[in-house]
Parts: sequence; structure tokens; C-alpha cells
Amino acid sequence: MLFAVCRFARARDFFLSVRMGVVFMLIFPFSLLSLAATPPASVQICAACHGSSGAGSAAGVPRIAGMNADYLAHALTMFKAGTRRSDVMQPIAKTLSDADINALAHFFSAQNPPLAPAPAPATDLVTAGNTLAMHGGDNGVPACFSCHGENGRGNGQRFPGIAGEPDAFVVNRLHEFQVRAKADTPKPGSMTEVASKLTEEQIHAAAAFLSVTQPH
Ligand code: HEC
Ligand code: HEC
Repeated sequence: MLFAVCRFARARDFFLSVRMGVVFMLIFPFSLLSLAATPPASVQICAACHGSSGAGSAAGVPRIAGMNADYLAHALTMFKAGTRRSDVMQPIAKTLSDADINALAHFFSAQNPPLAPAPAPATDLVTAGNTLAMHGGDNGVPACFSCHGENGRGNGQRFPGIAGEPDAFVVNRLHEFQVRAKADTPKPGSMTEVASKLTEEQIHAAAAFLSVTQPH
């Protein structure tokens, strides 16, 4: 089209290029909108573990569907930079460009698949986890959903959605935060501080409850 603009030797060519420009401007916003709907090619890499819509798996691969796009992009950038540890995700993130990261984050953020299939957890664990998430624990643990948003759906870029996360992923992540809390005094109001107060029983209760809670 630019080529045509440079060459309008005749008035007719000029009007033709203006018309094409108008058509282009009309189509362009729609092509931006479709970014979130059409999977980027690199989704194939992720689908093997996270599922094609990001539901995750009972093997401990996190649900990334429906999470805040900026949170997802930030997580991928940290894996890429090596500032968030993961033997699995670091080498994968290193192969992604900033544009890939942005497209993938928007794509998964717009998905809402059913929960990843998993064996049903014990009912008493789910009940205890529900109480912890809504009201906190009498050992000073604050209600999970006071930070992670109503029904654990997440709250902005800082507080990730945790509803629907597979049991094993939540257990691993909470243990990871606990290791960090032992290495360094946690900042007040951080996840590391919350994790430092959790008993092993509470960790398994929270994980059981979150794994059966469909995010909405
Ligand atoms: C070989 C399996 C595998 C593949 C392939 C894979 N992931 Fe992961 N991903 C994982 C595991 C396991 C974790 C949990 C890592 C951890 O926290 O230690 C994870 C974590 C993540 C997280 C952090 C989620 C959170 O809530 O903290 C994001 C975001 C993510 N992956 C995105 C992607 C994207 C995008 C792709 C494709 C480019 C991808 N992953 C490919 C296994 C995989
Ligand atoms: C004071 C606010 C606060 C409370 C209360 C809180 N969290 Fe968090 N949580 C955070 C923040 C902030 C992060 C992100 C930390 C990061 O990315 O390093 C987080 C991250 C997490 C993650 C990792 C999610 C992911 O996708 O990687 C899990 C799992 C989690 N929290 C579970 C819980 C559970 C279970 C409870 C209740 C027992 C809880 N949180 C209570 C602030 C909170």
C-alpha cells in the first residue's frame, strides 16, 4: 500500500490508495481483537503440558487459563531472566521473544476450560480448605481470598488467580515459598510471609479445595 502511495502518478491511483487506506484502518482494530482468540503458533509448545487451553494437569502443571495477562507475562519474563526458578520453564521461556510472551499471555488469559481431570480429594480436606480460603486460620493465617480475590479468581497483576490450580502445583509452590521464608525474613503482607505460617495440614487442605474450585 505504501508503495502505491509513493507512485500515484495519476489522480485515480491516489484515490485508490486512499480507499485502501480506509479499508485497512477499518480492518486493523479487528485484527488486534482477534489476537486473544487465535492461538499463537508457540501455543503448541505449551499445550503438551498445560493443555491447549491452559487447564494444567494433575501432575502439577499449573492452570494458566483465565489468569491476568500481565501476571502471566511477568512470570514468563522472570523464568526467561532466571529470576524465578523452574528447571522445566526456564529453558522454554528462553526460547520466547517478548512478542511471543505477550501473545501467549493474552491468549491463555482469555481461555476458560473445565478443571483438569484429577482424582477427587478427601471431603474433610476440601471443607477445611474452604474455611481457610474464606476466613483464614486461628494460627494467624489470613483468608486466602482476602488477597487472591473473590472465589480466588485473582486480583490484578499482583495477586494471581489460584482457583482451579491442580493440587500438586499448589503444594509445590507453597513449599517453595516456605523455603524462601526460612532463607530470608519475609516481607510483611507477602505470600512468603503467609506461607511461613501454614502447617502441612493447611497446605494440603488449601490445595485440595482450590483444585476442585472452578474459577469464575
Ligand atoms: C514440559 C512441560 C511444560 C511445558 C512444555 C510448558 N510448561 Fe509452563 N509450567 C510447567 C510447570 C511444571 C510449571 C510450574 C513451574 C514452577 O512453578 O516451578 C509451569 C509454570 C508456568 C507458568 C507460571 C504459572 C503460575 O501461575 O505461576 C507460566 C505462566 C507458564 N508455565 C507458561 C507456559 C507457556 C506459555 C508455555 C509454552 C510456551 C509453557 N508454559 C510450556 C510445565 C510446562
Ligand atoms: C497478604 C496477601 C496474600 C494472602 C493472604 C495470600 N496470598 Fe497467596 N499470593 C500473594 C501474592 C502477592 C502472590 C504472588 C507471589 C509471587 O508471585 O511471588 C501469591 C501467590 C500465591 C500462589 C502462587 C500462584 C501461582 O500461580 O504461582 C499460591 C498457590 C498462593 N498464593 C496460595 C495462597 C493460599 C493457599 C493462601 C491462603 C492460605 C494465600 N495464598 C494467601 C498474596 C497473598
